[in-house]
Order: sequence, then structure tokens, then C-alpha cells
Amino acid sequence: MTRILHLSDLHFGAHDDRLVEAVDWQADQLKPDLIVISGDFTQRARTEQFRDACAFLDGLRERGHEVLGVPGNHDVPLYDVLRRFLSPLARYRRFIDDTLCPFIELPGVAVLGINTARSLTFKDGRINQDQVAFISETFSRTPSESFRILVTHHPLFALRIGDEVERAIGRQELALNAIEDSGVDMLLAGHAHHAVSQDAGDLVTRAGGVLVVQAGTATSTRVREQEQSFNTIDIVEGSATITVHAWIGEDFKAKDAQRYDWREGRWVLRKTAEPAH
Ligand SMILES: [Fe+2]
Ligand SMILES: [Fe+2]
Repeated sequence: MTRILHLSDLHFGAHDDRLVEAVDWQADQLKPDLIVISGDFTQRARTEQFRDACAFLDGLRERGHEVLGVPGNHDVPLYDVLRRFLSPLARYRRFIDDTLCPFIELPGVAVLGINTARSLTFKDGRINQDQVAFISETFSRTPSESFRILVTHHPLFALRIGDEVERAIGRQELALNAIEDSGVDMLLAGHAHHAVSQDAGDLVTRAGGVLVVQAGTATSTRVREQEQSFNTIDIVEGSATITVHAWIGEDFKAKDAQRYDWREGRWVLRKTAEPAH
């Protein structure tokens, strides 16, 4: 089994220290093979906010965790216009990760991150032709049987959250081609501050066969119709179990463990399993 701890939308600068401490503790208890952080490390891309995010990452790494992250729209400066257009991700690269397309191979599982944050479309995300080619090239070098995971900040699909429907990523057609050509099995994203998982075929007819996993915000004080949460994702051949760990006021508690089985080209929700510990 491969276990991934999926965190998102930490928003240092608009975070709650108690939740940061609890995430730290949970990371050690849950013993993931990899921690994925799908963007929005900071609230306003300020240096002191990146320093706090960097200290959090250093702590995880010092305790032996492997971490893969991608930037979010909040990691691009909003008000500092010069910096926003001339060097939008300079602080991210200095404090979080110099690469914007991190790639890690675990036994049987390949994980690639892609940057969807842009200076011009501040809130909305985008993907471009070069990134599509890079996704295909990278995954084509992995063994055909490996489980392929693509990480972005922005969801590739329009998601329904309460009564609202979020916008899909810019140039969604390109993204759909990329995941289809590359045999991507799972998409991890954040941005919506709302935890949900489903087969992509439920969202876009032509895109069945990829499991879409959204993480809530792990540590931000800004929530949307849901408490703060993070996911554990347990992968064994032919199935994946996603457990949402939600904040219950003093700690995170595992709930909603959903097991999906691969059946005839789609991910089918088989049953709600016992929460992972
Ligand atoms: Fe966010
Ligand atoms: Fe975001």
C-alpha cells in the first residue's frame, strides 16, 4: 500500500496555529509515504508568510517526510503589481521549491505537480500547451503499470459546492487531452476549500476513468460550508481509499473513508470503509 497525505490551502498569514500543530502531529501519526500540498501556501505571498510556510515544510522534512508542492493563486502577489508581473513566483521558488513541476516516483506510484497559478488571471487557473507536453513526456517515462497522479492547485473540472458551481480550469480541453494521453489515474487539487472525491465521468462525460480528489483547507481560518480538513489516500492495486480528516474543534478526526474500485474503465465507489488511522 502507498499512503499519501494530501494537504492544501495552508494560507500562512490567515492560518490558525492550533491547526498547524495538529497537522504536524497527524502527519507523524499517519506515516505517509509522501505529503502532497496542492497550493495556497500563503495568504498574500508576503515574505514573512512564506517564511512561516518554509518553517512548516522544514519541520516535516526534518522529521523524515517527503513533500511535493505546487503553487496556488495566493502564492502570487496580488497588490505588489511589479512583482506580480515581473517575478510572480520568485518568493515561492526561494522559500518553497525552486521547481514548479516537481516529480516523485514511489514504488508503483508516480506523482507530478503542475503550476496552474497565473499573474493575469489572478483567481482562475490555467494550463498551457508546454505543460500538456511535459505531463505526457514525464508519465511516458514511468512503467506502464504505475499509478499516475497529477497535482494542481486549481481543479481541472467545474465542481459544485453548495449552490455554486466553481469554474473549470482555463483551457480545460487541453487538460483533458493531457490526462487521457498520459493515462493519469488520479487528480489532486485544492483551491475550493471543500473536500470531495468522485470519478471524473460524473463531471465531464468524456473524462471517465480518473479519480478526482479535492482537499479542503488544512489550516486556514477561511472555510466554505465545511470545517478544515485534509485527506489520506491509500492506494493498493485496483483500488484507492480516500479518508477525510476533519477539524472537530481540538483535533482532526477521520471520517468519510470512501473506497473506490477500478471497474471497466471507471472508478466506482464501492463502500464507505472504516476510517483510516
Ligand atoms: Fe485557498
Ligand atoms: Fe486558491
